[in-house]
Amino acid sequence: MAHWLFGAAIFHRVADASNRAGRRSHGDDSQSDRAAALGLRPDVAFDVSAESYDAFMGRYSSLLAAPFTDFAQVESGSKVVDVGCGPGALTAELLRRGVRVAAADPSEQFVAAMRDRFPDVDVRLAPAERLPFADGGFDAALAQLVVHFMRDPVAGIREMARVTRPDGTVAACTWDIAGRRSPLSPFWTAVARLDLGEPGERGLHGVREGQLAELFEAAGVAEVEAGEVSVSVEHATFDEWWHPFTLGVGPAGAYFQRLPPDQAEALKEEARAVLGGPPFRVPAVAWAARGYNSARLAA
Ligand SMILES: C[S@@+](CC[C@H](N)C(=O)[O-])C[C@H]1O[C@@H](n2cnc3c(N)ncnc32)[C@H](O)[C@@H]1O
Repeated sequence: MAHWLFGAAIFHRVADASNRAGRRSHGDDSQSDRAAALGLRPDVAFDVSAESYDAFMGRYSSLLAAPFTDFAQVESGSKVVDVGCGPGALTAELLRRGVRVAAADPSEQFVAAMRDRFPDVDVRLAPAERLPFADGGFDAALAQLVVHFMRDPVAGIREMARVTRPDGTVAACTWDIAGRRSPLSPFWTAVARLDLGEPGERGLHGVREGQLAELFEAAGVAEVEAGEVSVSVEHATFDEWWHPFTLGVGPAGAYFQRLPPDQAEALKEEARAVLGGPPFRVPAVAWAARGYNSARLAA
């Protein structure tokens, strides 16, 4: 299995997010019902606004999209489906490169934002495990920072291969959470230091070295190659980095919102100590895997 490195060191300041309201919707019955109907993990917390997501994770994923697209070797003019598109970090990069894009995500708020932001893109409300696209309709299927959250990652990757033409590309990336190289690692390190009894995101799919490629092989993807894609983001102030964690996005945001006020404050101060600075630089490294839909899968 070949191993490729794609990196980009980028200086980045995040716009003031102080007027972006978080939502305490986790555990909400209607959200659980919607998640169950779509066959999602019950602990997946993406019922948040696109703006909250942009502030929390989009500040890294919008930068990761370029090295990930390079890794996937997507060509201008090709037809690509962005699986687990969120509010569109990867779609934006693909469109910039002249790629024809379709997209799917199970979050109603993200699908609405995608349709608003990219009116010419065909965006479907669906999980990877049940893609509402015909067999072989795309030159490539890409999933950026999504396999972690699939209830059944092998089924999701197999679906990505199904909607890709024979010999088309299937590619994904997942943060290196186990190696503490995720952009959220300083937060989870602070949680561990306070001994709050929360394991964090280490149990998610594909977050250890080699796991993502193994999932690709289990899904029947051919000629799987593994690699890394990375960005490095400089934050000017602690509050700029911290505020998005209070918005309820993803497992970290949902966890933070469940904490009683004294623990929440202690966690904030521990995270400040973990980071040092400011300014400080947060490296963000993702495992990547790429392969091809074999004719066998398409048959
Ligand atoms: C970390 S975000 C990544 C979003 C976007 N790809 C990006 O790079 O910014 C994870 C996304 O996966 C979506 N998601 C969760 N479970 C999913 C599933 N089973 N299939 C597809 N997408 C899923 C969430 O709604 C969310 O948009």
